[in-house]
Amino acid sequence: MAEAVADRGDVYNTRPVGPYDVSDELRPRIDELDLWGVIEELKERGYAVIRDAAPPELMDELRAAIHSLSQPADAKATGIAGSAPLLLGRHPAIDRVATLPKVMAIAEFSCGKAVRAGRFVGSIKHPFEGEGDGALTLHADQNWLPVPFPEHNCVMTFCFACEGMTEAGGSTCVVPGSHRLRRPPTPEETRAAKTVAVETNKGDVAVWDGSVWHGSYARRIPGTRTVLHATYQRLYTQPIDDFTYLLQDDEYMANAPEGMRQLLGADLFFHTATPERDVDMRKFMYAAAASKI
Ligand SMILES: [Fe+2]
Repeated sequence: MAEAVADRGDVYNTRPVGPYDVSDELRPRIDELDLWGVIEELKERGYAVIRDAAPPELMDELRAAIHSLSQPADAKATGIAGSAPLLLGRHPAIDRVATLPKVMAIAEFSCGKAVRAGRFVGSIKHPFEGEGDGALTLHADQNWLPVPFPEHNCVMTFCFACEGMTEAGGSTCVVPGSHRLRRPPTPEETRAAKTVAVETNKGDVAVWDGSVWHGSYARRIPGTRTVLHATYQRLYTQPIDDFTYLLQDDEYMANAPEGMRQLLGADLFFHTATPERDVDMRKFMYAAAASKI
């Protein structure tokens, strides 16, 4: 495949951006995709809903893919009766969802140019019948980072609820504005903080940054909630999942959607040194430029 690093001259000529700024390189796509409202919500509340991010038929395909790839899980604590980890590269619908234009643009806004894939996991939530409230405990997704969390967000999670999600159906819940504290909740706060439901329609995607406190409610109605949690990370953080094997699969890469090279870190300098040759300096220079915007 042709080397992409040299094709990205705009990255080298763009002024660095501060937290929540939009780079000159990204601005035209935010305009075109009408995402300024989403950006404002992320700044103010730490989470947002991107309306009509995916066609409904793609959500049907995604749902079928998650169900076909899921393994049974212990549903006692949260009602999650099936889960499917490490999903990128394992079904065309998952890769299409991962590289949707609105998703890529918001991931780049929040985690920078050259944002990478972090974690892709599907889950199937059933009505909760266990003990306790069945809720997923409040947490911040970038909880392996030191406190205070960096001002530049490092982790972005997109939640594709294949059928949409409601509070009674076991939706995500958040503490709006908690991202400004730049730390995880204390044990007391996980019990006492007031949450609101994040509800979506089929084809919408909920998104939250790595600092905002969130969890999910138990499902209280019949049926299932099928969700893909897709996590994106700033280029300097260690990706949660290791998808590098996909880069070595020429047939896969030749057919993968545009955007996959970026998500897999193909243009970054990590792990490029060999005993015979030091790191790839062209890739280093690309990473140095892309990390600023
Ligand atoms: Fe989370």
